[in-house]
Amino acid sequence: MSATAVIGLQWGDEAKGKVVDLLTDQHDIVVRYLGGNNAGHTVKFDGKTYKLSLLPAGILHEGITSVIAGGVVINPQALLKELDQIISQKGELNNQLMISDRAHVIMPYHLAEERVLEASLKDAAIGTTMRGIGTCYQEKYGRSHAIRVGDLYRDTFSDKLAAIVEFKNRAIAALDPDFEPFDAKQIEAEYLGYAERLKPHVADTTAFLHRSIKEGKNLLFEGAQGSLLDIDHGTFPFVTSSNSSGCGIHNGSGVPEKHIGRMIGVVKAYTTRVGGGPFPTELDNEIGQHIRDTGNEYGTVTGRPRRCGWFDAVAAGYSARISGVDAVAVALLDVLDGLEELQICEAYEINGVKTTDFPSHLDDLAVAKPVYRKIAGWMSDTTGITNYDDLPENARNYVEALGKILEVPVDIVSVGPDREQTIVRR
Ligand code: GDP
Ligand code: IMO
Ligand code: MG
Repeated sequence: MSATAVIGLQWGDEAKGKVVDLLTDQHDIVVRYLGGNNAGHTVKFDGKTYKLSLLPAGILHEGITSVIAGGVVINPQALLKELDQIISQKGELNNQLMISDRAHVIMPYHLAEERVLEASLKDAAIGTTMRGIGTCYQEKYGRSHAIRVGDLYRDTFSDKLAAIVEFKNRAIAALDPDFEPFDAKQIEAEYLGYAERLKPHVADTTAFLHRSIKEGKNLLFEGAQGSLLDIDHGTFPFVTSSNSSGCGIHNGSGVPEKHIGRMIGVVKAYTTRVGGGPFPTELDNEIGQHIRDTGNEYGTVTGRPRRCGWFDAVAAGYSARISGVDAVAVALLDVLDGLEELQICEAYEINGVKTTDFPSHLDDLAVAKPVYRKIAGWMSDTTGITNYDDLPENARNYVEALGKILEVPVDIVSVGPDREQTIVRR
């Protein structure tokens, strides 16, 4: 038995979906363990593009079991829509999908609450994906009004929901004069419909994963978001509401860390961020725009233009240490093709003091000035290269510099969105 984990080391969208797809064949089970439909993972092969949000990338492979574990927050309507979309692209799925009965359910009032919250913050808004992710996790930790997948199948669901909706209607109306109250019976009917369709997939996934470990099955954990969006270790409060670094695997899946033999951290060859929050290496100039255009840096989920900047090794190095990554995958290297000179941020200067520690407070990160190392670029196209040695010398120098500064070997280099456009070194 072996387990591999793929996590993002930046602010999300590092190409985790592509890397998971690449590794799926060596595994039996792919597990999503955190986040919800705030994630957008793109997988491309045989001329087709698949956009996954809640479904693990394993769903695209025959004979693989895909697990949505208890740490995920599930919008059942979004999940069913995604399932229909994938079936329309791939035909009927002949592999297993399991959904944890412990996973929390995103309800319509979570979306309404998030709209009120974000609006109240005006310019200081987090810039969330507005999918009810944070408000559903808030509910989970608040406990009293939380609904888990397993609750949808109990006789108590109707009464429980009625009491919650009454409370929510009063609370939201007090904050938003335009609010139209929810009808508990209508939500109940809608969610019972979703529950019926999802029923064949709902299971105790923790027990299943432990049985699979005993049987020697190989597990692949598919991270969502990026480590810098981690609720405990990220750029708080401009983060997501769960543990999106490697720390989330244990609590999100019930599988202890000791089983994870290989923790792979995915980085872009540069940095992007969607939503608010400080971003020291952000390029608000023509190079930033060039990266956005070349890398097609527009959000998979919300379509928002992603903020782009140079590779930040202080931030990514911090993420790599938090999760104890064994190897790095460097993606979107091709986007830097044709840039004469590249820069890697190897330290920050904060109020005149140079440091390689990632600041714990937002205000310090907001004034951090990147200390850059300049590296010569390469002027040729890398998108067709599949052997590491065939990369231009300067591209290899760049990749080596990233590995060295992160103190982790670069095992995978990606030079295009397609599965084939990949250099696997180890
Ligand atoms: P994820 O959320 O980490 O799975 O990443 P996303 O799918 O949101 O964003 C990565 C984007 O980059 C997607 O559009 C991918 O198709 C694309 N992509 C992945 N790897 C490469 C690469 O090496 N080069 C280029 N140009 N695009 C890539
Ligand atoms: P993948 O898995 C990039 C960002 C949002 C916002 C913040 C909080 O595709 O890498 P939320 O809706 O989670 O409460 O929003 O987190 N964010 C992501 N950014 N990729 C993601 O997922 C993200 N998921 C959330 O833009 O800044
Ligand atoms: Mg994404």
